[in-house]
Formats: sequence, structure tokens, C-alpha cells
Amino acid sequence: MLIQVIHCHPLADSFNHALFRTVVKGLARNGHDVIATDLYREGFQPALTVAERRSYMDNDYDGGDVASYIDALKKVDGIVFCFPHWWFAMPAMLKGYVDRVWGPGVAFVYDREDGHLVPNLGHIKLFGVVTSYGSPQGVVRLFAGDADRTAMMRGLRSMCARDAHSFYLVLYGMDGSTPQTRQAFLEKVQAKVAKI
Ligand SMILES: Cc1cc2nc3c(=O)[nH]c(=O)nc-3n(C[C@H](O)[C@H](O)[C@H](O)COP(=O)(O)O)c2cc1C
Repeated sequence: MLIQVIHCHPLADSFNHALFRTVVKGLARNGHDVIATDLYREGFQPALTVAERRSYMDNDYDGGDVASYIDALKKVDGIVFCFPHWWFAMPAMLKGYVDRVWGPGVAFVYDREDGHLVPNLGHIKLFGVVTSYGSPQGVVRLFAGDADRTAMMRGLRSMCARDAHSFYLVLYGMDGSTPQTRQAFLEKVQAKVAKI
């Protein structure tokens, strides 16, 4: 399979960067072709442009400024996101990637009859998330209802193939973690990727 791994973290020595490298290496080891997209190192610009917003409500979306990211999304068989949670949400740069790249005519098309969104990424058969929170799961649920999980696994995931294999691997409570609990999560991610 051709699988894109999308990573967002400013520090190349962070835990999430180690997770990203683990996913990329594991997929390559299993014979997959991998597009390793490291948004910070690539200097991705997250702000939706005037042209993008003007054309957003139509299937003729002007995504020219992010054409290489759109081309990748249109051709991959699988996609895995790897990022930490900030203020109970994905980092702004990753949100900008979704806003700009998962646009009309790309991730979905507007149905001309009634204007609802029709998923357009039926070629994506694998959808995965590898992520972390500083807080324990109970705190994440209490403060934010674990809303980002829903946004990823119901929002973005639903643009992909109906029968896409999906997974959401999360390490809650990182602020109270130990080298052992972090290593155990890395191994859990490794084991999951080894089965893909
Ligand atoms: C700007 C910022 C905001 C954060 N907001 C939250 C938050 O709302 N909830 C939470 O559980 N952790 C929050 N954290 C903690 C991170 O999620 C946690 O430290 C991270 O998952 C660890 O991954 P890393 O070592 O790869 O950075 C925040 C961290 C930063 C830097």
C-alpha cells in the first residue's frame, strides 16, 4: 500500500516525533511505500487563504497553493496521523492542513441536488491516529468530551472508504508518565503497525 503518515510537532526530539518515526519505519519494514509528511519541518502554512475560502463552497476549490498535499491525499491507500493534543485539540498547524487540504473536490464533493457532503476518499482503506494527551482520560472526557477523537474518527474517517480499517491509539496522562509507560506505548504502536 501507499501510506501517508502526517506528523505535527515542533520538536524533532519529542515523544510524538519518536512515534512518527516508529510508524514510518514499521510501515516501510512491512514493504509499504510511505510518504512521511512532517508538517513543521516542511514549513506548512496553516492559514486558509482568501482564494481558498472564496472557492470553498463549490466543487471548484482553488487548492493550488497546497497542490502537492492534495495530490498525495488523492493517491494514497492509507493515512496515519501522529500528533500531541494541545488545548484538547490537534495543533493549529495540523488543523490548518485539514482545513486547506481536505477541501471540496478533494475529501468530499457537494451534492448539487441538496448541497450535502458526499465522501470522496473511497480509495483510502486505512485510517489511523497515534496521539497523546498530558491529562488522564477522565480529565479529557470531563473538560472536552474527548471531542477530537470524535472529529478524527467520525469526521475525517467518514470521508474515507466505508470499510476502511481504522485505529486510534492514544497515550493519556503523559504528564505523569514514566520511561516505562512511554516505552510500553511505543511498543503498542510498533505492534499495531507490524500487522498492517
Ligand atoms: C501548547 C500545549 C497545550 C497543551 N494542552 C493540553 C490539553 O489541553 N490537554 C492535555 O491533556 N494536555 C495538553 N498538553 C500536554 C501535551 O498534550 C502532552 O505534553 C503531549 O501529549 C506530550 O507529547 P510530546 O512529548 O510529544 O510533546 C499541552 C501541551 C502544550 C505544549
